[in-house]
Amino acid sequence: ALVVHHRMKSSGKWAQAQSILKDFEEKCGTPISKLKQVADAMNVEMHAGLASEGGSKLKMIISYVDNLPTGDEKGLFYALDLGGTNFRVLRVHLGGKEHRVVKQEFEEVSIPPHLMTGSSDALFDYIAEALAKFVATESEGLHFSPERQRELGFTFSFPVRQTSISSGTLIKWTKGFSIEDAVNSSNLYSYFAVGQDVVGELTKAMERIGLDMRVTALVNDTIGTLAGGRYNNPDVVAAVILGTGTNAAYVERAHAIPKWHGLLPKSGDMVINMEWGNFRSSHLPISEYDEALDIESLNPGEQIFEKLISGMYLGEVVRRVLYKMADEAAFFGDTIPEKLKIPFILRHGKMRKTFLTPHMSAMHQDTSPDLKIVATKLKDILEISNTSLKMRKVIVELCDIVATRGARLSAAGIAGILKKIGRDTLKDGEKQKSVVSLDGGLYEHYTKFRTCMENTLTELLGEEVSENIIIEHSNDGSGIGAALLAASHSQYIGIDES
Ligand code: GLC
Repeated sequence: ALVVHHRMKSSGKWAQAQSILKDFEEKCGTPISKLKQVADAMNVEMHAGLASEGGSKLKMIISYVDNLPTGDEKGLFYALDLGGTNFRVLRVHLGGKEHRVVKQEFEEVSIPPHLMTGSSDALFDYIAEALAKFVATESEGLHFSPERQRELGFTFSFPVRQTSISSGTLIKWTKGFSIEDAVNSSNLYSYFAVGQDVVGELTKAMERIGLDMRVTALVNDTIGTLAGGRYNNPDVVAAVILGTGTNAAYVERAHAIPKWHGLLPKSGDMVINMEWGNFRSSHLPISEYDEALDIESLNPGEQIFEKLISGMYLGEVVRRVLYKMADEAAFFGDTIPEKLKIPFILRHGKMRKTFLTPHMSAMHQDTSPDLKIVATKLKDILEISNTSLKMRKVIVELCDIVATRGARLSAAGIAGILKKIGRDTLKDGEKQKSVVSLDGGLYEHYTKFRTCMENTLTELLGEEVSENIIIEHSNDGSGIGAALLAASHSQYIGIDES
């Protein structure tokens, strides 16, 4: 009986795999009507998050940035960009309106594994040391009078409750780990505690090692990207990161922020870090695979929008559907390939080599007629060989379903922001341009994702409005942006402008 059952199983396997895929596709559907509901829900939640602290899943964090770069920024400034397993230090020489960015240097530093078991102090000392070494490479005569303290913009790509432009406490961890194949690399999670003052820790470490430097701006990567984008284009109104995580920031009118009890800024504006990754709505197309991923993730119930969109999760969703096809439809033969069983998320900070979004992107964008790249990835990453072209086509289709859903949802999010700031319709005869700065690996390297997102935005806003909406890649704007904000919040402003 067993043998008979088995044969039946394999003869019907193709149809069964197809039906698993079809079911999944249906659950992931994003018709325009649904996307409009998502955009509307985003808009509603934005209002709620601005009305009161904790009023929405959207934190709508007040960044204390009420002035964006103008181009007048002058001097030498540093930035530190910390977002995962690596960090970067930057030095930017700003020459004012005329000379703009005169020079820009950076260095990428990975956190050595031995610090994994160390203390928080050890990690910060390491960062401070790296910074000090970088400062030592500064060429002489560029800038500082000896009594002038060096200043730093600190980009920290996690949700932070800001208490001023240069201070704040960590609200929670997101993302889990960096997407890089850094199997042995450490992560930051064991070092920082939620509620800890991020600038305070860094400042203490700088003092310990005798580095005389002051953090004058603490910013999220979206805020840095917005600042960097605005520096190059005055029409920039929002910034979106599509990378390991996803998030957006935009310029709000301060009087439209009921929860802001501070003074009305001179500019009338306040930049908001939405933390849109945590957006959630009954209109989101969520499948059983997403639910399982969420439950097994490091942050169940949180960052639901992010789990449908960002680079950390897309590949994992694909893996889960493939697993189901292997298990229930014997898609890869009688046994489930061992490597297909390995989820990307591991607790306690370590990750294993498994199927990730960059592999998905490579397979999805395979243009060779026999899908050679798909075959290679299956073999190299999942140790699955002897796949037929027909099977490989199914896998490409699966990647397409997952990427399309993420791309279209991110477009809906952008449409929601544009609606909130009244840029989603044509004001009579006005040809006001609205530019959105985009950055992140998904946007930069996953062409099909990017194209789909851009096309969907046009579809949502209509051709006419879309003519005035421009998506601009802000290449590494977040680092420069932080340096620019360090400059515009310098303690020396108005003291010496010589
Ligand atoms: C996560 C973080 C957020 C960051 C985004 C992109 O969503 O919570 O702060 O901006 O990733 O890096």
